[in-house]
Amino acid sequence: MDRMCTDPNFLQRISIGQMLPSHKIQSFIAPGLMVCARECVYQTNCLSFNFDTESGQCELTRAEAGLSLPLVSKPGFVYATKSDWITAIAANCQHVKCPPNHRCVPELNGTHCVLNDCGIPPTIKFAADVDYTETIVGAKLGYNCSRPGMKPQNKTMTCTPYGSWDVEPCRKISSCADVQRCNVTDDREYWLYPEAFGYANKVKIYCHGMNTLNPKEYVSLPSENLVVYPSAVVKYSYCGVDYSANVPKAGKVHFEKVRVHPKNMTIDGEDNQFANLRWGKFQAYGRAVDCASYISCRKYFGFFRIDTTGTGLVINRTVSWVLHGNRAGQTYFNRSSDHVITAKCGGYCGGCFPDSQLSFELEAETSTVVQSASDTMCSDIF
Ligand SMILES: *[C@@H]1O[C@H](CO)[C@@H](O)[C@H](O)[C@H]1NC(C)=O
Ligand SMILES: *[C@@H]1O[C@H](CO)[C@@H](O)[C@H](O)[C@H]1NC(C)=O
Ligand SMILES: *[C@@H]1O[C@H](CO)[C@@H](O)[C@H](O)[C@H]1NC(C)=O
Ligand SMILES: *[C@@H]1O[C@H](CO)[C@@H](O)[C@H](O)[C@H]1NC(C)=O
Ligand SMILES: *[C@@H]1O[C@H](CO)[C@@H](O)[C@H](O)[C@H]1NC(C)=O
Ligand SMILES: *[C@@H]1O[C@H](CO)[C@@H](O)[C@H](O)[C@H]1NC(C)=O
Ligand SMILES: *[C@@H]1O[C@H](CO)[C@@H](O)[C@H](O)[C@H]1NC(C)=O
Repeated sequence: MDRMCTDPNFLQRISIGQMLPSHKIQSFIAPGLMVCARECVYQTNCLSFNFDTESGQCELTRAEAGLSLPLVSKPGFVYATKSDWITAIAANCQHVKCPPNHRCVPELNGTHCVLNDCGIPPTIKFAADVDYTETIVGAKLGYNCSRPGMKPQNKTMTCTPYGSWDVEPCRKISSCADVQRCNVTDDREYWLYPEAFGYANKVKIYCHGMNTLNPKEYVSLPSENLVVYPSAVVKYSYCGVDYSANVPKAGKVHFEKVRVHPKNMTIDGEDNQFANLRWGKFQAYGRAVDCASYISCRKYFGFFRIDTTGTGLVINRTVSWVLHGNRAGQTYFNRSSDHVITAKCGGYCGGCFPDSQLSFELEAETSTVVQSASDTMCSDIF
């Protein structure tokens, strides 16, 4: 019996010189056709197998050949379906029906079923199709994240002992350093997919210092963004104002861009790279401060205007502004829309400060910004 089975010419319903090239579950070297057939019988998901009579390569497959799944010719190979073999070799496992994805393990005292297959690998968003030869527990399948806008990375998915695929997701390009790794070194606007937004939403980010080791991200602000710390003091006697007082820290700044960390979309209001200083000293973004109000005249001159119109972003809606400092007060605080926040505040010295670090959030889930930026096409380079 054993001899006969090792000589494929004796067997009926075996396809000689043919094989099924797809739907593989497992490939291994088997000492003979019988061992290959037996392994297929043990595995619930196996429906057919290929056996290379020269090398002993045994390939278990989860489908049967048919009209829509034709065999291909391959000299030295044989192909057979499981159903023809069950009675011939199943030993203790012949009458056992293990659940899908399981393998029957014959024991001296009976049988048991173990999980051994993860099934067809999932399609990975943004990756090329996964090419695989095995889907059993422990199998590691390599794939490429190489679509436009993707961080080019080789990833693997692993079939876990729980019978599920552990997948490393592809990531979109999320920082200027990622763009730089694509050998792109121009300072300009790019579409980045910040980690803070789950790599899912694109945001127009200006990359600065792309030919340095430390490129930085900025959000360009098409509307007016301003901070004024005036050179003004209130006159003691009649609450009048002296606008030409010498106030050392005073200044007026227009922000053309603001520094942002794409990891968490926090704003670094102290970055002055794109701060256009009109006069005096640099002022941090998003604060209204003065040093004018040393008596209680309720006159405040510190001013800021935040306007994120046209960026696709708004200031984190949970951030609020609080009075801080000596004799701090406000003339007004106006959050007239998600995009525009203005305030006039002051003290001696004091004013209105954000109660936590400023950060951006998306203006809407599906925000559309019309101004141009470029998606980085980075194929297999890194
Ligand atoms: C019988 O097989 C089962 C499953 O492998 C095992 O847990 C058990 O200990 C075995 N019993 C004996 C008596 O060998
Ligand atoms: C990734 O893609 C490139 C080009 O398409 C290819 O040469 C390379 O072998 C792929 N790597 C993996 C792990 O699939
Ligand atoms: C991915 O693997 C291929 C083949 O091994 C290699 O040529 C390529 O550089 C790798 N790509 C990345 C992004 O690591
Ligand atoms: C945001 O990320 C930057 C850079 O990764 C980090 O320096 C900063 O501490 C983070 N801020 C918060 C509030 O997590
Ligand atoms: C908004 O700010 C709050 C408080 O600082 C913070 O807990 C939250 O994570 C921020 N939300 C976003 C979307 O950044
Ligand atoms: C505050 O906003 C309102 C509209 O919401 C506007 O009518 C008012 O003029 C604003 N005040 C200042 C001082 O900007
Ligand atoms: C990227 O640039 C570096 C430095 O010039 C070079 O060594 C590398 O070959 C480039 N990679 C690709 C894929 O062009």
